[in-house]
Amino acid sequence: MDWGMRNRLARMFQPASGNSVMLAVDHGYFMGPTRRLEKPAETIAPLAPYADALALTRGVLRNCVPPTCATPIVLRVSGGVTVLKEDLSDEAITTGIADAARLNACAVALSVFVGAPHEHSSLVNLGTLVDQGEAASIPVLAITAVGKELEKRDARYLALACRVSAELGAHVVKTYYCEDFGKVVEGCPVPLVVAGGPKLDSDRAALELAHHAIADGAKGIDMGRNIWQSDHPVAMLKALRSIVHERATVREALDVLEAERAHPTPPPVRVAV
Ligand code: R5P
Repeated sequence: MDWGMRNRLARMFQPASGNSVMLAVDHGYFMGPTRRLEKPAETIAPLAPYADALALTRGVLRNCVPPTCATPIVLRVSGGVTVLKEDLSDEAITTGIADAARLNACAVALSVFVGAPHEHSSLVNLGTLVDQGEAASIPVLAITAVGKELEKRDARYLALACRVSAELGAHVVKTYYCEDFGKVVEGCPVPLVVAGGPKLDSDRAALELAHHAIADGAKGIDMGRNIWQSDHPVAMLKALRSIVHERATVREALDVLEAERAHPTPPPVRVAV
């Protein structure tokens, strides 16, 4: 693996823990102005210092994130369909690798839709993006989308989607947590990170999800709604960091959450690479 590729991965996955806490704020690319992400700049600013990477589109990056931001960028480069359509799988590559390089992206991300009507084109898109990513030393994160077909969120289906993504060359795969998640991890030869999915009933439930995923072998999280739709987003992000990087228990993470709510601490200073 080229130095540039390794360097980009090392910026996202913290060398001390080997894990990553990515903040997903890319929902608008097919969902429009999602609740509590209506004004991306306001949602992102207080959270960015605590994220190991920001997952977003070039439009939000250019318009809502200052170029002085030192948090690594995972650039979503697929799209082309919205929630108004029944079939969400008809995506193409919507941002070129040259623009990803201009934006100093640490990785590019695209969704694959295994089992959906456009499975074939989404997988071919992944192969094309991996070729481009390898040439530019930019890692590719494959997102195993389940779209509206939530019933497919089981280990057999997710293990298939993750393995296929890795076989086609993805450097990192994002998927959902499920029962028997260890089997998904086992079958995937590249690092897996988990999404949170729609907002759960409580902050505790989201912390439990992250805890189970890390315990089962995930290398991190790429979570959105369960952070910025929480009533305490910064505290929630810090609590998640304690699980992902320090292997905190759910009880310990809840203590971090409570302590941060009571006495917020200033953000860390990050040196831009
Ligand atoms: C879909 O919009 C994206 O892939 C999200 O980045 C992903 O679903 C993670 O966000 P959440 O934790 O809100 O599901």
